[in-house]
Amino acid sequence: MRTINPVNHKKLIIDVLTMAGLTTEQAVTASTVMAYADQRGIDSHGMILLNTYVERIEKQIIKKKPSYTWELNKGVIALLDGDLGMGHYIGDIAMKKAIQLAKEHTIGLVFVKNTSHYGASGYYTELAAKEDMIGFSTTNTLPLMAPTGGAERVLGNNPISFSIPREAENPIILDIASSVVAAGKLMVAEQKKQEIPLDWALDIDGNPTTDPYAGFKGGGSLIPLGNHKGYGLSLIMDVLAGILTGAGYGKNVGHSDIGFVMMAINTSAVMDKNKYNTRLNDLTGMVKDSKKAKGTDNIYLPGEIEYLNQKTRLAQGIPVNKNLYTELEKLTAKLGLNMNDYFTVQQMDSSIV
Ligand SMILES: NC(=O)c1ccc[n+]([C@@H]2O[C@H](COP(=O)([O-])OP(=O)(O)OC[C@H]3O[C@@H](n4cnc5c(N)ncnc54)[C@H](O)[C@@H]3O)[C@@H](O)[C@H]2O)c1
Repeated sequence: MRTINPVNHKKLIIDVLTMAGLTTEQAVTASTVMAYADQRGIDSHGMILLNTYVERIEKQIIKKKPSYTWELNKGVIALLDGDLGMGHYIGDIAMKKAIQLAKEHTIGLVFVKNTSHYGASGYYTELAAKEDMIGFSTTNTLPLMAPTGGAERVLGNNPISFSIPREAENPIILDIASSVVAAGKLMVAEQKKQEIPLDWALDIDGNPTTDPYAGFKGGGSLIPLGNHKGYGLSLIMDVLAGILTGAGYGKNVGHSDIGFVMMAINTSAVMDKNKYNTRLNDLTGMVKDSKKAKGTDNIYLPGEIEYLNQKTRLAQGIPVNKNLYTELEKLTAKLGLNMNDYFTVQQMDSSIV
């Protein structure tokens, strides 16, 4: 296992995306979102996806220079046509608009169509939490998941994220796929040559599998989180992000007709800030200080593990496994970049376990 320092990590992502042809503006925003994922231990949504994104840029599924347009701007609601821009870039614009609307109207609700994969949902909702607002985000994805009782991909594993700001503390961030795990976790397992638990995915014939390839790249389908519950949530998220935005939906979602929803709620317009903070502290205290199950030392709030990961990785570097390193080496060479410019000789020697 090698590590890369956070500055070089972000630079590597920017350079890859810029060399692939994205505008600097798109590459910088996308690198911020992908770096966020890798720093927080959401390894399924960081640099592991660079190869995929570069392929999509080459095939013009992601536009190098999009001209996004606001199709609707009406009170608390806006609708953004992403013009096939990189999902991370368009998502960032959309959440910032929702925050601006919430500053004016208490709530801001932004719909997005005509865009691509936006990575980790929690990045966008945390933008709202940083402004002292509750954030919500969802997106639909390519069909990856079988509905309960089904054996073929019909719905995306549409993620759901909420962020809750806290006084002088890291926000609560719930950021979950509606499948048992995100598809990226099967990619990570495949890269590490690890088996997956039987309840993560079905193979192409609808049988539970421990083979990450059979469950994802080999045409299998993800199992919904809590069976009918994850299936139901995914369907509803597709109504919001797919049907209502005008993007693709269900089996017809493609890489470039994905939809998003971003919402920000200004809590201080609803309740006195001190009262909100006191009540929230009370609730989190009840959770954190509650009786622990045998063998458990700590009860974490959603987002807390990732917050701790981020502190560690910012200090110690971001781990890059051997297979990912090899993949990145090929990708950077193809784009005329040199991995040694990002992984210093000293880092490589000292960090090989
Ligand atoms: N863009 C897309 O199309 C897409 C699709 C699906 C998923 N995703 C992303 O994939 C990522 C991973 O999703 P996932 O469902 O595999 O994540 P996961 O199963 O690792 O769950 C993560 C969430 O659970 C919380 N959590 C984990 N352990 C906890 C504990 N012990 N106590 C309290 N909270 C805990 C985390 O803080 C986080 O909020 C997310 O960032 C999601 O947005 C993106």
